[in-house]
Amino acid sequence: MSCPIILGIVGDSAAGKTTLTRGIAQILGPENVTLICTDDYHRYDRTERAKLGITALHPDCNHLDIMQQHLSLLRTGQPILKPVYSHQTGSFEAPKYIKPSKFVIIEGLLGYSTRAARDAYDVKVYLAPPEKLRATWKVKRDTQKRGYTPEQVLEELEKREPDSQQFIRPQRQWSDIVVSFYPPNENEDESNGHLNVRLVLRPTIPHPDFTEIIEAGNGDLESAVRLGLVRDMGKPVDVLEVDGHATLEQVNKIEHIMCSDMPYLKSICDREINPELGKIAGTTGETLQSYPLALTQLIITYHMLKATQIYQ
Ligand code: G6P
Repeated sequence: MSCPIILGIVGDSAAGKTTLTRGIAQILGPENVTLICTDDYHRYDRTERAKLGITALHPDCNHLDIMQQHLSLLRTGQPILKPVYSHQTGSFEAPKYIKPSKFVIIEGLLGYSTRAARDAYDVKVYLAPPEKLRATWKVKRDTQKRGYTPEQVLEELEKREPDSQQFIRPQRQWSDIVVSFYPPNENEDESNGHLNVRLVLRPTIPHPDFTEIIEAGNGDLESAVRLGLVRDMGKPVDVLEVDGHATLEQVNKIEHIMCSDMPYLKSICDREINPELGKIAGTTGETLQSYPLALTQLIITYHMLKATQIYQ
C-alpha cells in the first residue's frame, strides 16, 4: 500500500477553496486525486445548529477527532468510511467508502486546528482573500447555489465573524503557503475578473527559486511579477505577487522555467493548457478566471510533485 501525498486547503467560508481544489485536481488528473471536504465532519445538521445557536465554524460543531483519525488513516494509504453532509438539504446522508488515490486534497474550515491533523499534510495552503471580496463571493454562491437571500447571507456572515476570528483565521500561521486573490484597486470588489494574487511562501517547505526565475526572465517578467521579503504573523516570509494583467507570454515563461526540472509538470506546460486551467470556475470563483489563478494552481501542484520526490 503506497502512501498518498496530502494537500490541505483551508480557509473561511467562500474563500475560494473549491475553485482552487478543482483546478489542482484537473492538473494532476482527476483519476489520480481523492477530494475530501471536511464539512462532512459537521457534528450537527442545519436544524440542530440553529436550535443550539452554534455556527459550523466552531470546533465543537465538528467531529474534529474523527476527522483527525481519518486523516491519519489516509496518510498511510488506508480507506475510510466518510460521513456525508449535504449543502443542499443541510442534513447528513449515507457515509461513503473512500480509498485514497495517489493524491488527496482535503479542503475545509478547520483542517489545521489540531496538531495531529496538521501533521497529516505534505503541503498546507491557507486561502485569505480580503474580507470584502469574500463577502461578495459568499453572497453570490449562497444565493445562486444554496437557496439563501442576500440579506440572510450577510446576516449569517455577521453572526459567524467571532468564530471566524477565533477559530478560522489563526490557522493561517500553520500554512506553508497563504494565497490571497485581491482586486488591484482596493475600492473595487473585482476588476473585470482581473484579480492579482499574493502568495506568502513560508520557509517550511522548499519553494521554487523565484529570484532565479524572475532573473531568468531577462526583464520580461518584472512588469507583472514581484518578489519581496516581509513578515507574516511575525515570521519572515517571501511574498510573490502576480498581477491580473500578466500576459500569456509572461505566465508561460514562468511556467517553463519553473518546470524545467520536473518532467511531468513540464509536459503539462508543453500542452499549453494552463490558460484553460485558470478558467476552472468553482461555485465561488467565476471571477478567478485569470493567469494568477493558473499560476497559483501550478505552484501548488509543483509542491505536491516535489513532495513525491522528497518523501516517498
Ligand atoms: C458555510 C461553509 C460550509 C459549511 C456551511 C454550513 O457555508 O462554507 O463549509 O458547511 O457553512 O452551513 P449551512 O449553510 O449548510 O447550514
